[in-house]
Amino acid sequence: SLPLEFGPLLVVWQRSHGRNALPWQNTRDPYRVWLSEIMLQQTQVTTVLGYYSRFLERFPTVVDLAAASLDEVLAMWQGLGYYSRARNLHACARAVAERYRGEFPRSAAELETLPGIGRSTAAAIAAFCFGERVAILDGNVKRVLTRLLAFGGDMASSAEEKKLWALATALLPDKGIEAYTQGLMDLGATVCTARSPQCLLCPVSDLCRGRAQGDPTVFPVKTKK
Ligand code: ADE
Repeated sequence: SLPLEFGPLLVVWQRSHGRNALPWQNTRDPYRVWLSEIMLQQTQVTTVLGYYSRFLERFPTVVDLAAASLDEVLAMWQGLGYYSRARNLHACARAVAERYRGEFPRSAAELETLPGIGRSTAAAIAAFCFGERVAILDGNVKRVLTRLLAFGGDMASSAEEKKLWALATALLPDKGIEAYTQGLMDLGATVCTARSPQCLLCPVSDLCRGRAQGDPTVFPVKTKK
């Protein structure tokens, strides 16, 4: 009883109403996609834009980044915060240079073995760059999917989180994984927001079980840690 029309509807919506002109889109270069995903983990798009272009000017390839000192990478990261991201970024660049001769691996499973690349980031890179049909599940996507499904499991529970990963995988469309993955991010950032979701603008409001129950904002459920 999963709402399997979700995927195809999101793909169509993303192509006309999603974000399609950001600097890390319209490229299949995993270095550029990886760099954007790491910067965007805890930082807004508008802040990332300037850092992203300066970073690519100084480090055009992953091999250039691997050859730099950690101090120079940290200097370029100054102001973005969450500096463990920059340390992992440097370690990851060195791992790609040394273990993979400067070519990022092409599967989510292998990407996930690299420093600072978790399951969702690995999936985003594999989907955007290589068309791999794998699920993402970051904070925004947890919000979208728990509302869609009225999934009441506690996101502080790893068993419940695991169930949501399985549901996210079952919802993947047969085609259009790139637009679908971007569409999940775009819907969470622009329509299905934390405090005041704009259900009247949502392409899947008719499928949304959280909305049907009356208040989608009760999802996701998180007990305080
Ligand atoms: N946040 C994380 N990944 C993103 C992407 N590809 N586009 C826009 N915002 C994002």
